[in-house]
Amino acid sequence: MDVQRFIDNAIDEIRREVKGKAIIALSGGVDSSVCAVLAHRALGENLVPVYVDSGLMRRFESERIVELFSHLNLMKVDASERFLNALRGVTDPEQKRKIIGETFIRVFEEVASEVGAEYLIQGTIYPDRIESEGGIKSHHNVGGLPLHIEFKGIIEPMRDLYKDEVREVARALGLPMEISERMPYPGPGLAVRIVGEITREKLEVVRTANAIVEEEISSFKPWQAFAAVIGKATGVKGDNRVYGWVVAVRAVTSRDAMTADVLELPWGALRRISSRITGEIPGVSRVVYDITPKPPGTIEFE
Ligand code: XMP
Repeated sequence: MDVQRFIDNAIDEIRREVKGKAIIALSGGVDSSVCAVLAHRALGENLVPVYVDSGLMRRFESERIVELFSHLNLMKVDASERFLNALRGVTDPEQKRKIIGETFIRVFEEVASEVGAEYLIQGTIYPDRIESEGGIKSHHNVGGLPLHIEFKGIIEPMRDLYKDEVREVARALGLPMEISERMPYPGPGLAVRIVGEITREKLEVVRTANAIVEEEISSFKPWQAFAAVIGKATGVKGDNRVYGWVVAVRAVTSRDAMTADVLELPWGALRRISSRITGEIPGVSRVVYDITPKPPGTIEFE
């Protein structure tokens, strides 16, 4: 791929198609970030990039994204209470996904009509199109829900790119490595890393555990590495028996996320992760390493 030619063509296309204001949902993932930078180069002030904080993001993630994209006039919408309220008491994985997808869409629609944006720019890439059965994805990374709002145009300048090409464009645009080389992160965020109901307590546990796992495993270059809260079990801390959280650690290698192998971590790294998670998070009584490839396990837990 001729990266510079792709960039010039994408900017031309956006300028040609958009007449007035356009909106883009920027999650901080590599696809939406690249797309937002291209769109900003094309439209300047007429682009409204929106970051929706679902309350399901990793530690310091929202703050970092706001910092990284402040030069694009990023609009941050804190919808965390709304997401957590909608998810209260819900245990079924599909139901959780559906609620999160719906809430994203509604928040996004509200913002679009508030700012008077008539065009939608999306960072959809080629594998997304194959997955989405021919329909236009209504929200990149959230998956397939219909927008109630009518846009005059939907522009997807990266529709023919593969992930590795997106990363190349990211580097050429001068995006920092923490974006261009970013691990994939699911749209529903930490919700798919908590088995069962989402509570503030479990979110706090899983957020800290994810931060520890990322710190300890990033040098082993996983496709994805993360922690999930999968239940409760008895343990002993100090002189007391405790009924605490079970944290599963998962680290995989993959080419396309369709299949995945377990990363064979050195024993010392696993031991360090276990001792950090149980030592730094009081409510955790047990740490397990998931040794299931995909298939039959999925990468995420829900
Ligand atoms: P699974 O868990 O199905 O995940 O093996 C495959 C890849 O997709 C990510 N993933 C998601 N991404 N919305 C997303 O945007 C989702 O609902 C979702 N579920 C999983 C996962 O992190 C992995 O990279």
